[in-house]
Amino acid sequence: MAVMSPLMNDCFLRALRRQPVQRTPVWLMRQAGRYLPEYRRVRERAGSFMRLCTTPELACEVTLQPLERFRLDAAILFSDILTLPDAMGLGLEFVEGEGPRFQKPLRQISDIDQLPIPDPERELRYVTDTVRLVRRHLSGRVPLIGFSGSPWTLATYMVEGGGSRDFRRVKGLLYEYPRAAHALLSKLAEAVALYLDAQIAAGVDAIMVFDTWGGVLSAAHYRQFALAYAQRALEGVRRRGGEAPVPAILFTKGGGQWLEAMAASGYDALGLDWTADLGEARRRVGHRVALQGNLDPLVLYAPEAVIRTEVKQILQQFGPGSGHVFNLGHGVDPGVDPARVGCLVDAVHEFSPLFHQEGP
Ligand code: CP3
Repeated sequence: MAVMSPLMNDCFLRALRRQPVQRTPVWLMRQAGRYLPEYRRVRERAGSFMRLCTTPELACEVTLQPLERFRLDAAILFSDILTLPDAMGLGLEFVEGEGPRFQKPLRQISDIDQLPIPDPERELRYVTDTVRLVRRHLSGRVPLIGFSGSPWTLATYMVEGGGSRDFRRVKGLLYEYPRAAHALLSKLAEAVALYLDAQIAAGVDAIMVFDTWGGVLSAAHYRQFALAYAQRALEGVRRRGGEAPVPAILFTKGGGQWLEAMAASGYDALGLDWTADLGEARRRVGHRVALQGNLDPLVLYAPEAVIRTEVKQILQQFGPGSGHVFNLGHGVDPGVDPARVGCLVDAVHEFSPLFHQEGP
């Protein structure tokens, strides 16, 4: 069991619960990554991305790197969503310049029946060890976010064997063999629940589920195959969890059209990509959930004056009051100059107190 240390900066957790804050908390998806020269150095030392993920000392080091540079209000565990299917025996490799690939993708219905559900403290011990190590190093400075891929998004990689443009195989599975698809997603929902639960037991303060590919589905399929299983994974965590469950965020790229359904799924906050209007999203669901996002990540290639204006616009769209966590609509692009990231974070610190004058 993790030793509890009081958090010095809890504005991220307060915003997720829509409690008053003095300014809008900010962290960024992929805040640790290739745009940071110090990340590239550790990555080189590790030899490969997987070695980096599976070596707790190194994963801990890169988790903390962005916090040394920027005034961020949360740390996110350094790992990847694809470590879970790797632990289910699919054999993950990252091919230079090509992205992730599984040595043993799911190719037959019988592959699904044979998939094991990993015990996270065994097969994913390196993840929970990293959580424990990061917690010790953070010593309560800011909260730590744990995460998983959503069952649907994990299924896309497991069936396609890697990234995909058209999702032909996995959509074929949904249309032709819906029962097998449900069997796969049920298994993944259980695996995700166990995995998130182990991260919580190891000490993460909040959890986030990445449904990167929910937006490629039809509305009916999104509800049946993506949202239903993201919800089931969360229910699995909550059934196991203690008295005070940690807040949970659901990020769906392309999910702006289904906000009402997402807001009814039990998650405390919804992560929005940059295509959604934050003000409209707040009017639609802001009485039920907090919202996280949603600056276009490519704004970070623009001059600082533009970044500052765009930050102000996002804050204005959400408007006054708590319930907003500032973030990008997707991850920091690897080619971005770290100084621009600093400009973004500083702009949130500078402009956001105006929106919280009723704060504590
Ligand atoms: O800082 C953080 O956000 C925490 C770490 C994190 C990574 N991946 C590190 C990473 C998190 C939360 C993820 C999640 C993840 N991984 C998602 C969901 C979020 C999203 O981006 O939509 C997905 C779809 C993946 C799968 C994945 N991992 C892909 C497609 C790739 C290759 C693309 C790329 O950027 O190279 C990765 C590799 C990866 N994961 C890197 C990092 C820092 C780059 C690897 C490297 O150093 O070469």
